[in-house]
Amino acid sequence: MRIALFASGTGSNVESILEAIREGKIDVVPAFVFSDRPDASVLEKAKRYEVPAHTFQPRDFESKQQYEESLLQLLENYGVQWVILAGYMRLLGATIVEPYAHQIVNIHPSLLPAYPGLDAVGQALDAGADETGVTIHYVDAGMDTGTVIRQKAVPITADDTKDSLGEKIQQVEHQLYPETLQQLFRKGY
Ligand code: GRF
Repeated sequence: MRIALFASGTGSNVESILEAIREGKIDVVPAFVFSDRPDASVLEKAKRYEVPAHTFQPRDFESKQQYEESLLQLLENYGVQWVILAGYMRLLGATIVEPYAHQIVNIHPSLLPAYPGLDAVGQALDAGADETGVTIHYVDAGMDTGTVIRQKAVPITADDTKDSLGEKIQQVEHQLYPETLQQLFRKGY
């Protein structure tokens, strides 16, 4: 089975997945890493793991549809069955979501449906919540609305800042995402 990983930034989650694959914990081939930002450090991480890295931006195309058609072409050229989003900061359109229905997974730093969209960590702090967490879910056409696969709570303490809470959430993510993908590819959810 072949997967593609999409990310816009640092790619610490992509790294945790590539590491788990290298250790033989997830039985898939990482076909390529894609970033919509040419300067994203996830691209260097891909190279370190000897995984092909591709990047182009919507602004290189006349429309979002053409951008996504190129992305779809890439997925088809590599024979990819699953698309794994990890900090990919764009809403996927029908061009990708329809042919890959139930084959796209995302990770979000809250217990969805709470705090969807941008800055989920800040949203949880602003709400004065005493817990937030991590959600791994299938991707549909909406913003963080697809069926939930797994969730894990993270407690918020009185002294938490955006940085400290963000760090606690990322620690959970780096365990939960590889573990969930391993189970998903082994027996499905
Ligand atoms: C993660 O917190 C993930 O939940 C969110 O974006 C962040 C990506 O971080 N969707 P990284 O690039 O994997 O370090």
